[in-house]
Amino acid sequence: MEPRELLEAARSASRSAYAPYSNFHVGAVIQLENGAVYVGCNIENASYGLSMCAERNAVAAMVTGAEERKIQSVAVASPDAAPCMPCGACRQVLREFGCKEVLVEDESGSRSFGFDEILPHSFGPETL
Ligand code: THU
Repeated sequence: MEPRELLEAARSASRSAYAPYSNFHVGAVIQLENGAVYVGCNIENASYGLSMCAERNAVAAMVTGAEERKIQSVAVASPDAAPCMPCGACRQVLREFGCKEVLVEDESGSRSFGFDEILPHSFGPETL
């Protein structure tokens, strides 16, 4: 899928968000190197600390469904913020599976970040 299509799918996923506490809705779409896509939205909980971000829910779907777990890109969208950048915890989890690019919405439509730009000098599986 093209960047705009991935962001459109992320925007669509954000409509499924369960976010009654923050009222901040996020959707994420992961595209693998083989082209497969996996979707997630944020899911909050009355026990606030159990809330989970859209990106990590998309990673959970990917781990459950994919044999080749090589992430090419992640698209993140929210009707409540543009751009909606992945939080630090999600960056580290995406890094685990080799994510190379982050797509977010901005005034011009979309913006792409190389993963090294948003998580430089990172720690990853090959270090162990
Ligand atoms: N959130 C995400 O889903 N992804 C991010 O990268 C940033 C934050 C969610 C978590 C919480 O449900 C809400 O946005 C407010 O922090």
